[in-house]
Amino acid sequence: MTVRSSQESVRLSDGVAIPLIGFGTWQLDSDDAYNGVRAALEIGYRHIDTATAYGNEDKVGAAVRDSGVGRENVFITTKCPPGNAGREAQTLDASLSALGVDFVDLWLVHWPPNGEARPDTWKAFIAALEQGKTRAIGVSNYSLAQIDELIAATGRAPALNQIPWNPFAFNEREVAELQRRDVVLEGYSPLKRTDLANPVLSEIAAAHNKTAAQVVLRWHVEHGFVVIPRSQRRERIEENFAVFDFELTEEELRRLNTLGG
Ligand SMILES: NC(=O)c1ccc[n+]([C@@H]2O[C@H](COP(=O)([O-])OP(=O)(O)OC[C@H]3O[C@@H](n4cnc5c(N)ncnc54)[C@H](OP(=O)(O)O)[C@@H]3O)[C@@H](O)[C@H]2O)c1
Repeated sequence: MTVRSSQESVRLSDGVAIPLIGFGTWQLDSDDAYNGVRAALEIGYRHIDTATAYGNEDKVGAAVRDSGVGRENVFITTKCPPGNAGREAQTLDASLSALGVDFVDLWLVHWPPNGEARPDTWKAFIAALEQGKTRAIGVSNYSLAQIDELIAATGRAPALNQIPWNPFAFNEREVAELQRRDVVLEGYSPLKRTDLANPVLSEIAAAHNKTAAQVVLRWHVEHGFVVIPRSQRRERIEENFAVFDFELTEEELRRLNTLGG
């Protein structure tokens, strides 16, 4: 299944538009987090992905403030660590304080706490949404069964599930099942988990005068998958955003979809 899109954002069930390409900040500490986010915002990214566990929310917040882009123009995601289940409200308040913002755009349960869906945690997320401390709520690393448990307990599906994703991991059933529940798929580790030297990727990249990384990211965009590549090098931060000026053919998309066999 292929949903063609050259759009730059998708709408979440909570009504908020999320830019398809965001800047990932895992393992970017201190100056690297600050400089990376400043570079990303200068280049044109308007979506930053952080987490309590990354320990860099203060640097991310400072970079957004100093960028001059304006808080209202930047989509900020942060995540609640599984170990903080039961202390959700305090965790979000600490994130808001570290980021120096009144609300985040998306708040995720980072992992199922102890491998469990935890509807009580999800209820605390719904309360935070109702209080306006986050504009949308979702999960990360949840299975379809765990998502169904949250829906059964609360009647509210997560707006998004952030999961490891790349062409080799493409799974048509997962895509269809998330779509059926109105859950947007956000992929993480798009480059790290991909063999960028794969000959099919190289061939498609050469045909468009692009890099293999750009083909991988364009593949996400054309499917409407949100994707959050990370780099600490400015030239790569730029490269990873330069994917809105070419289109993959149907045949190329088909070949990429079947890379994983
Ligand atoms: N929810 C979760 O559990 C979870 C888990 C993992 C990640 N995430 C999120 O997803 C983001 C992205 O995932 P990730 O950081 O694991 O991995 P990634 O973005 O797939 O890959 C990052 C690695 O790829 C390199 N790279 C970046 N651009 C490149 C390019 N154009 N060509 C070749 N290599 C390139 C980077 O090196 P240089 O820095 O040297 O360029 C870095 O080593 C994270 O930063 C985080 O925000 C979430």
